[in-house]
Amino acid sequence: MASEEDLTGSAGRPSLVAAVAVAAFHFAIALPATGAQFPQAANGEDLADAPGEAIYAASCANCHGLDGTGVPPSLLAFEEEVPDFTDCDFAAREPDADWIAVAHEGGPVRGFSEMMPAFRGALTEEQLARVMGYIRTLCTDDNWPRGELNLPRPLLTEKAYPEDEWVVEFGLDHGDDRSASAAYVYEQRFGPRSQVEIVIPYGWRRADGDLSHGLGDVVVGLKHALYHDLDVGTIFSIGGEVILSTGDESVGLGAPGNALEAFASLGQILPGDAFVQAQAGYKAPLYADGANEGFGRVVLGRSFTQGQWGRAWTPMLEVQVKHDFESGAEPRLDLLPQAQISLNTRQHVLANIGVLVPVGSDAADARPVRFVTYILLDWFDGGFFEGW
Ligand code: HEC
Repeated sequence: MASEEDLTGSAGRPSLVAAVAVAAFHFAIALPATGAQFPQAANGEDLADAPGEAIYAASCANCHGLDGTGVPPSLLAFEEEVPDFTDCDFAAREPDADWIAVAHEGGPVRGFSEMMPAFRGALTEEQLARVMGYIRTLCTDDNWPRGELNLPRPLLTEKAYPEDEWVVEFGLDHGDDRSASAAYVYEQRFGPRSQVEIVIPYGWRRADGDLSHGLGDVVVGLKHALYHDLDVGTIFSIGGEVILSTGDESVGLGAPGNALEAFASLGQILPGDAFVQAQAGYKAPLYADGANEGFGRVVLGRSFTQGQWGRAWTPMLEVQVKHDFESGAEPRLDLLPQAQISLNTRQHVLANIGVLVPVGSDAADARPVRFVTYILLDWFDGGFFEGW
């Protein structure tokens, strides 16, 4: 196998010239909306048994650079910036399946530029998988959890994966009251494995015929992934939250005082695109007469893809149990069937919709069925209106 130095030696400057020529040619021809085929000299057959590194050098380095940092736009005949595969913050979070889709079908399959050509006529999926194997060596810090471990977000269970996203949640009670709640959740990663989160809830409550509404209890939280391993398919995190009593208690929009919460979250990939996620935690009020509460959540789901490269949708079944340690009441159990679906081509705008059904006789009497939904933007992958 050629070392990186050999490759650099043989294809330093000439490859840049070739890149410009190829890109200029590429630019000049009319590009079909589905992504252009890459008109390259080195065809797939020459590279049938070649290692990923050699295929990368022949097919990708023209634009992505031999070192993976991307040829600067000033040296290419197009404006688009080429991503930096050595930047772990960017590269680690992208799953192989998405990258193979982009390389096979061209940029537009995930809402990227058609300047990222389609290799489906030149390289097989198996060859592209080999290329990915090589590209993965370009980020040399394996502290960053891989994007495959970023499992679909359930409606209640806190994920183990650290996120860069915002989520708008909405819930509506079935029944005469029609109480409703909304929340804006903002999450930002820092460092390879940590995340800070803020939740701003807003609620509508009907009591004695009057509708009151207002801010709920604001939550500020931290999360850190203690363990992650793509080979075992596991990610495990711990987190803590401060729940501030910003809501109006008298109308049922908040607690009488602040509270602290600690939790652990687990994500586990199962065979056949299935997964299980779980969270267990404890909430301790910081005011007199507040009840300590333990809770557990488990969710089982499976992702399906529309066609080979299309939209992902994920049905899930979530179970939640909450136990109030003070009152001596029975634990409350809820079932929450739901489905998440990607809304845009880039798959970074997602929605989830489900129904929370209280189970158990006492619980069912006291608590209404609730419709729950969210819309989510993974903002690291682009703005809300990008990649549709
Ligand atoms: C003609 C230039 C060119 C060639 C050759 C090329 N790429 Fe790209 N590639 C691009 C550009 C430009 C982008 C950025 C597109 C955007 O951001 O809209 C890109 C983006 C990508 C992405 C998407 C990264 C993300 O943001 O998630 C992947 C993956 C990728 N290329 C893989 C490859 C592989 C693998 C090869 C070789 C088999 C290859 N590319 C060859 C120009 C090229």
